[in-house]
Amino acid sequence: MEDSTLNSNNARTIYLETFGCQMNELDSELVQDQLLALGYMFHGDRASADVVLFNTCSVREQAENKVLSRIGELGVEKKDGREVVVGMLGCLPEREGKKLLSAYPQLDFICGPSELDHLPTMLHNAVAGERLSASDRSALQGNRSRRSAALSAADDNLELLDLARAFNPDHRRSSDKSAYVRITRGCNKFCTYCVVPNTRGAEVHRPPDAIIEECRQLVQTGAVEITLLGQTVNHYRYTHDLALNSEGKEVPQIGPGLTAFRKPLDVSHRITTFANLLQRIHDEVPNVQRLRFVTSYPKDFGNDILEVMRDCPRICNYLHVPAQSGSNRILKLMNRGYTIEEYLEFIERARKIIPEVEIAGDIIVGFPTETEEDYEATCELIRKVRFKNNFVFHYSPRPGTVAIDRFEDDVPREDKRRWLNSILALGSEISGEVHKQYEGTTVDVFVERLSPKMIKNNGVKLMWESGKVQLSGRTGGDLICVFDVDSEEIANDLIGTVVEVEVTNSAPLLLLGALVHNLVER
Ligand code: 5AD
Ligand code: SF4
Repeated sequence: MEDSTLNSNNARTIYLETFGCQMNELDSELVQDQLLALGYMFHGDRASADVVLFNTCSVREQAENKVLSRIGELGVEKKDGREVVVGMLGCLPEREGKKLLSAYPQLDFICGPSELDHLPTMLHNAVAGERLSASDRSALQGNRSRRSAALSAADDNLELLDLARAFNPDHRRSSDKSAYVRITRGCNKFCTYCVVPNTRGAEVHRPPDAIIEECRQLVQTGAVEITLLGQTVNHYRYTHDLALNSEGKEVPQIGPGLTAFRKPLDVSHRITTFANLLQRIHDEVPNVQRLRFVTSYPKDFGNDILEVMRDCPRICNYLHVPAQSGSNRILKLMNRGYTIEEYLEFIERARKIIPEVEIAGDIIVGFPTETEEDYEATCELIRKVRFKNNFVFHYSPRPGTVAIDRFEDDVPREDKRRWLNSILALGSEISGEVHKQYEGTTVDVFVERLSPKMIKNNGVKLMWESGKVQLSGRTGGDLICVFDVDSEEIANDLIGTVVEVEVTNSAPLLLLGALVHNLVER
């Protein structure tokens, strides 16, 4: 058997490509940390890597097709004699199951998103050339019943993957100023079009002390902005198990053998709600300059959360709260659990409590049976809410969902395309108005990068055009804001900091402004 003990001389190189949502991006980051610690190395060249991993998305067919065409290419390369280990992670293998291994013999192993703690062993076996059965080459939540929503995340091995980062900050690349922190895994909603409840399992909430410790470590190693992640993030709710401390008093524990990291909570705080969690992170991690969360579910969004957002200056005034459709009939078929009137009531409440809040969403066009009238209702909703932007998708029938079994995908492709384009055009018009309102005001901008214009021209240096360098960042409300500085040196100094920018102009998707020099905090 080949020795797979790795050191810096014979380290296997891994190419990892990620598709889909922020959850997948975070999973990839954690997987990378885990494998780096085992001596693997990562690089960006698929053609020469020893191992190719795809972290896949199954939400729409298009995302799956992209990965499968990559797998097809690797199959040809393997037939031609290339020695490469190929692994597929994430939602696609979870949805498709073991049959993927026979359909694509070039795949050495598959690993669902809830089983990523098994990845190192599977990779080790594949690299060592072990001849294993399909069962041993697949780690899937699969037919195991959906874990009970009551199951504590702390009782779950997967928790260790998230926790590893809190305990081992050395894994973190300090250049990353913006970090994701998962607070909930899975989803209990069962919207009829969506595969996520099948691929990511039942909702499991992570213990607040673990989350806060992770945020603290991330900030200590350089993070300026933290985005809390959950499929329905505002549904976060953790019920603490109680344990006896050394004085025989009941205190909350965070998992088997683990009492709270720090000062135990008062037993009366046995339940931590999302509002409590936000407040605690804001207060207990004072150096986090920006705290955000995605994605919110419109139903049951209590004022407690909105009031914490209003009262905590470092929590961003931004909500990503998908409506999906403006038609009550379609919402019902989607099993979204709210009416448009309820959605609008929520938006009104949010704007009343946080007048400066910006709202973004998602829209699906062409859901089965959708008519011109339903499409018009969606346009009406967009006009009323005045979203800063919407991500708009064609309905894509997904195997394993209720919608694919229950409804025929009967909306003509042409209608889907027309509706999508006009919703985008309407969205852009409204987004332009939203951005225009900021002209003449001063906004806080978290500086992320050289603006795409600069990056595209990197190496060619178009700076001579204006003698300036353009930076791009985001406001608390998640509006993109670009501004010029005099040199690359200043630009590099400002990336990763929060600065004040006076907005001088705007476009549908962006604010243009000038740096308020004397207020820059370094
Ligand atoms: N077809 C089209 N869009 C979908 N989404 C989820 N499932 C589907 C599907 N089957 C969209 C929803 C969701 C976003 C992440 O992806 O708008 O909010
Ligand atoms: Fe999918 Fe609905 Fe859950 Fe969002 S809330 S992940 S759309 S099932």
